[in-house]
Amino acid sequence: MLDLATKVHDEARQGEAYAPFAQDPNQYKKRFYIESYGCQMNFSDSEIVASILNEQGFGATRNFEEADLVLLNTCSIREKAEQTVRKRLTEFRKQKEARPGMLIGVLGCMAERLKAKLLEEEKLVDMVVGPDAYRTLPGLIEEAETGQKAVNVLLSREETYADISPVRLNSNGITAFVSIMRGCNNMCSFCVVPFTRGRERSRDAVSIVEECTDLYRKGYKEVTLLGQNVDSYYYVADNEAPVNFAQLLEKVALIAPDLRVRFSTSHPKDITDDVLFTMAKYENICKYIHLPVQSGNTRVLQLMNRTYTREWYMAKVDRIREILPDCGISSDIIAGFCTETEEEHQDTLSIMEYSKYDMSYMFFYSERPGTLAARRYADDIPEATKKRRLTEIVNVQNRLSLASNKKDIGKTFKVLIEGNSKRSDNDWMGRNSQNKVIVFPKNEQPLQAGNYVSVHVHDCTQATLIGTIVTA
Ligand code: 5AD
Ligand code: SF4
Repeated sequence: MLDLATKVHDEARQGEAYAPFAQDPNQYKKRFYIESYGCQMNFSDSEIVASILNEQGFGATRNFEEADLVLLNTCSIREKAEQTVRKRLTEFRKQKEARPGMLIGVLGCMAERLKAKLLEEEKLVDMVVGPDAYRTLPGLIEEAETGQKAVNVLLSREETYADISPVRLNSNGITAFVSIMRGCNNMCSFCVVPFTRGRERSRDAVSIVEECTDLYRKGYKEVTLLGQNVDSYYYVADNEAPVNFAQLLEKVALIAPDLRVRFSTSHPKDITDDVLFTMAKYENICKYIHLPVQSGNTRVLQLMNRTYTREWYMAKVDRIREILPDCGISSDIIAGFCTETEEEHQDTLSIMEYSKYDMSYMFFYSERPGTLAARRYADDIPEATKKRRLTEIVNVQNRLSLASNKKDIGKTFKVLIEGNSKRSDNDWMGRNSQNKVIVFPKNEQPLQAGNYVSVHVHDCTQATLIGTIVTA
């Protein structure tokens, strides 16, 4: 999944998140260290946790060896994600032998899924805190400090942390993620999220617009509205008209014409024409939709409980292309779901070709305990077959990504500069509206991160467009 700024679902990505450091090193009485795994929602949650901890007198550190409190914000989406976290927890556990005062806490989806197990049976951690329980962290820390078991994995129907102003961690100061809802009601049969993150609930629209306005005032130029299923956003305040996702998008787009708006993730069944027309109406709403297909075969989609057919998905892609001809589309794809035949796998390859995805996050099926699929269907595709099918999917995507980038050669894009390119300080890196990364040489103009520039594309790789500045 791309890099930290855009990749939304990658359990393997590891972020070390640091609150801005106090000018006065003695401002905070204690230090916390936090690592985030998994989807962007987890990174966003870590910023809420940082805010709660700052209030309690905890400052951030990038060095876990000096931390009084080490936190891992974890992901359960695939087994591999959990293995990665377990390994890391074991390392921290070893550290603790030398410094018994150090507290270790597990947050997020693994905390919710495994509950007290990591604390009681495996004795890996001192605190277990689920995604809806972060407000109780101060009390839990106190309990853990006195050697008690500190566990809160209660899920909530209301919690959205709407009033908590996140402390931006590891931020480039230009792009930020804003959580607009929590949980998921979809019950895709493969997915553990409805169990670890609970029921879907939308955050107060006023607080979302306020947070985005505040970011803009601080110099941010791009906000990504985050939710498991943003198109089902729906908020009703007392005595006010309800706000749906299209209306929320418009409210955020109206904050300022030079504040870009992105969103993720869209469920194909819920994205409406209204949303597409709102995207078309505002130049600053980026023309990019992450529209996970999961499988290209109707029978498999039915087993997955995705509630759409192959044809319905294809019609949705047609509609996007009709209303937004220059829109980038990306996908999530699962190889080797229960009972998937070779022909059904071919349907996935062909729907990729049809949709011409610019990019995809691709996985092989990993059975998750407690999910509908784990209870109902046998995980019967041999691992070697899953991996071979995944390789075929990746090969198709690589070809599609290169073809999509080649089509952009000769075009000029408005690019938001995010910073230096990874390869060279002589080059800028930014993105176009379609979310493609563009690298281009710095010229004599006094530009900086956060500026918009026009860039003419003259070359590309599979992952990157390469260009030159036309005008600043
Ligand atoms: N196995 C493999 N991939 C999964 N995903 C979700 N659950 C599983 C699973 N059990 C993928 C889906 C989803 C993305 C976030 O992760 O493609 O869209
Ligand atoms: Fe999981 Fe489906 Fe919800 Fe996405 S939409 S989080 S895949 S249940």
